[in-house]
Amino acid sequence: MTVRRFLNLSDAGGEAIAAILGEALARKEARTGWPKGKVDADAPLAGVTLAMIFEKNSTRTRVSFEMAMRQLGGSVVVLDGASSQLGRGEPIADTARVLSRYVDAIMIRTDDHAKIEELADFATVPVINGLTDLSHPCQILADMQTVIERRAKLAGSRWAWVGDGNNVCNSLIEAASLMHFGLAVITPNGFEPDASMVALASTRDDIYFGSDPREAVSGAEVVVTDTWTSMGQDEDEYRREAFAPFHVDEAMMALAAPDATFLHCLPAHRGEEVSAGVIDGPQSAVWDEAENRLHSQKALLLWAMGKIG
Ligand code: CP
Ligand code: NVA
Repeated sequence: MTVRRFLNLSDAGGEAIAAILGEALARKEARTGWPKGKVDADAPLAGVTLAMIFEKNSTRTRVSFEMAMRQLGGSVVVLDGASSQLGRGEPIADTARVLSRYVDAIMIRTDDHAKIEELADFATVPVINGLTDLSHPCQILADMQTVIERRAKLAGSRWAWVGDGNNVCNSLIEAASLMHFGLAVITPNGFEPDASMVALASTRDDIYFGSDPREAVSGAEVVVTDTWTSMGQDEDEYRREAFAPFHVDEAMMALAAPDATFLHCLPAHRGEEVSAGVIDGPQSAVWDEAENRLHSQKALLLWAMGKIG
């Protein structure tokens, strides 16, 4: 079998993503009420080790992958970019070749997407994207799982992205293209998503790009936003002014479907991209969404190791 990689959702494709989501839901259900550190009954990744490289901060990605491997019966090694030899300029290709001799899979959070592509090209084990400046596919697996749980179905659902055309937005566009759900992508002028992701959606008449948040949120079943300033970007007055009309508050949610679900990958900035009333209110699914990082990544790891899909 060729070595699997998950740099973007398209690397798996729609069929495998459906299998991953099904596995995530089933494994979550099967361990209801169990202690969080207890290994799943079948310990499917016993003896398997994942290396995680972080060149940017993380709370959810780090802990959810670590607990995912623990629950699957495997283990992790965590490398901080700055304190490893990567931080002193060792080539990513050499790092890929060496880590492939020690571990069975590699997850990396980095800046330039070209770095993860190079890592995957030189690794002989699966490589998983834990966020780059281009995309955050693991996040969107969790978002899709959350929507299935809350709304029973994914295909045909209507989502609205309100805010920056960033990494999370790019992966959401990819997901909508692969999994056939409707999406309105509403960004301020000058903050549009990556052209490669927009191109993916070009044949779909239910994926819409615009800049008027109120129009686009109208009737949406899922409203998603994210920080106005991603890691590595400079927070400035220009961004704050551009994004001010994109603040998701109770008035904006009132334009969406009456029982619309609110999602945010976290960390959130109450009073900026979202009001406290929305993120801490009854329509918010952000804590389930964060929890589902664990369940969906367990299924992703099984896919990456060739155990499903
Ligand atoms: N949503 C997410 O990726 O969170 P962390 O930055 O905490 O990993
Ligand atoms: N767009 C955000 C996501 C954080 C999980 C960032 O890149 O900082």
